[in-house]
Amino acid sequence: MARLADPRPFYKSLAPLLIWPTLPRPADWSAVFGRRAPLSLEIGVGNGEFLARESAAHPERDHVGIELRWASVKRALRNLSKPGVAPGGNVRLVLDDAKPVLQRLFAPRSLERVFVLFPCPWRKEVHEHFRLFHRDFCALLNSRLVDGGEVLLVTDWTPFAEWTLGQLPGNGFAVDHRLIDPAFQTKYERKWLALGRAQFHEVRLRKQEHRDVPVREDLPLNPPQLAALDFERFAPEDVTGPITVTFKETVRDRERQVAMIRTVVVEEPLTQHVWITVARDQAGTWWIVPARGCQMVPTAGLQLALERVAEAGRASAAAR
Ligand SMILES: C[S@@+](CC[C@H](N)C(=O)[O-])C[C@H]1O[C@@H](n2cnc3c(N)ncnc32)[C@H](O)[C@@H]1O
Repeated sequence: MARLADPRPFYKSLAPLLIWPTLPRPADWSAVFGRRAPLSLEIGVGNGEFLARESAAHPERDHVGIELRWASVKRALRNLSKPGVAPGGNVRLVLDDAKPVLQRLFAPRSLERVFVLFPCPWRKEVHEHFRLFHRDFCALLNSRLVDGGEVLLVTDWTPFAEWTLGQLPGNGFAVDHRLIDPAFQTKYERKWLALGRAQFHEVRLRKQEHRDVPVREDLPLNPPQLAALDFERFAPEDVTGPITVTFKETVRDRERQVAMIRTVVVEEPLTQHVWITVARDQAGTWWIVPARGCQMVPTAGLQLALERVAEAGRASAAAR
């Protein structure tokens, strides 16, 4: 109730938000921004304070922010709609994990600068695989930077800085690591200052040699069709392995004979939350397709999820 009564809008405009799966691979950034300009990227923008300031301070550049969490994207949209920010519309936001987005939307040698301020350190050893800056991510970053392009990473946590430095050798960067005073005025910088940290690790990477990481191609989806299916009983089974597919729930509209299946497909580094529709056309054929309006990336994992639903449909028809 308190939230409903709060008169502040979470965001004033959705205009900076890109529905990235609908963009070409790689994205044509000059078409997105309506001009050709040097491109900067911030990964993990949080509430977007730095992105807002950076885009206002550098109207001659275009700026893309990637953020994993919708709650943060809403705050960033609010900060980006403040007066004086992005006056020429030189900033866009992408809601997703930075890795699949970098793989698909950014061509090799397309980014001038990349900022990563106070990334999640994933302090426990068992969570280390969640960290950014694993070797393959460093190679991907390198490939997306123009020759001489730069990455700026700032962290409060010494073990994370040391771990990151250990991932860099062989990835084509000149590395400069030092301790710096607070300089970025972000939420997490303020948080660590309030907890008594006076200095932070700054790791600057300058691209010296190119690493070749091609743009990730999508797969044309092939939606299965079935002549028969038991609408009440079909129940797809989860998949485990290098690709995991979890069917969370099935909602059935019995009158219209349309079912919707809430599905999570994980194929590292991409996690997709999609709905799959099972519906019959006028000729009586059942179609198994990603639901209209879903933000989805056509992949082998999504095709596997569709096939799994089709298998369940066939089994249900055979059991009748
Ligand atoms: C510790 S916060 C720092 C936020 C902001 N840069 C600041 O300094 O206040 C890390 C942010 O990175 C986001 N994040 C974590 N992993 C990410 C990923 N793989 N891709 C994009 N954003 C990510 C988190 O959702 C979170 O908003």
